[in-house]
Amino acid sequence: MRCEPRATALLADALAALGLLEKNSSKYSLSDGAKRYLVAASPEYLGGMILFDAALWDEWGRLDEAIRTGRPVRDPDMFQNDAAATERFIRAMDSLVRARGDAGWTAAHLNLSRTRSIVDLGGGPGTYLVEFLRKHSELRGEIWDLPGTLAIAQRILHERAADVIDRIELRQFDYHRDSPPNRVDAIFLSNIIHSENERDNLRLMHTCCRALNPGGLVIIKDHVMDDAMTTPAAGAVFSLYLLLTTRGRDYSFTEIKHWLAQAGFMTPEIISLPSPPFSSSIITAVRP
Ligand SMILES: C[S@@+](CC[C@H](N)C(=O)[O-])C[C@H]1O[C@@H](n2cnc3c(N)ncnc32)[C@H](O)[C@@H]1O
Repeated sequence: MRCEPRATALLADALAALGLLEKNSSKYSLSDGAKRYLVAASPEYLGGMILFDAALWDEWGRLDEAIRTGRPVRDPDMFQNDAAATERFIRAMDSLVRARGDAGWTAAHLNLSRTRSIVDLGGGPGTYLVEFLRKHSELRGEIWDLPGTLAIAQRILHERAADVIDRIELRQFDYHRDSPPNRVDAIFLSNIIHSENERDNLRLMHTCCRALNPGGLVIIKDHVMDDAMTTPAAGAVFSLYLLLTTRGRDYSFTEIKHWLAQAGFMTPEIISLPSPPFSSSIITAVRP
């Protein structure tokens, strides 16, 4: 790409000021942070998330409309109506989770030692499931998700999870419509309830209960808000993105506990991930 020298110097100086480049006399090089998060070959590449955020520029420009109407400004289709948008969405989830390290932290801190089968419901790229399977060699996993997402998941798993792919099954499953095809010991929902409204989340907890063996564990990972709905701050701001693009928002532990109890789950517990870098929590509850 040919660029105009004066304009390019202004851009490079701004990037150096932000710490993305290092400037040495008139030479520029990538900073350590840029090498880690902005180079596509890096295992912590965050580009997928940045491209997804950039594609939502127009939606953020319509925040006033969403505040007036209370409705999303785009079809809340979970980016399923266009294959390129699905791929951008699913690669964004994968890139954020790998760059920040959520999946590794969750696998290290969740007790799955007695679990033999797990469903990653709305598992998308399967980034968490892959880490669970790497940690527990006896465990088998399934991703239940929409068909457009599963097509991308299959490619991503072949790209980088060859070591565990023979223990993963992909199943088309729409949690708004389908009954669970089988029962498992644990069901994991990361960043799922925040896209749904209260009524559908209660229904989803009932579906999870039906998908579990007795004694099975439901595991919810999400921003979990305090009762004032202002902490964590990242969750309060993220709720605006959810307002623009989904029917959901971030929910409090009180609200989530209520759905779990209504669906028959017992002994809800919460672990908050260390912040920074994380801003989410994990809730577990047991099916009697
Ligand atoms: C925000 S992504 C979360 C992906 C992954 N769990 C994570 O945390 O990285 C939401 C996921 O839910 C899936 N999903 C949305 N609506 C669904 C539905 N009705 N049935 C099944 N999966 C759904 C999407 O395809 C996507 O993979």
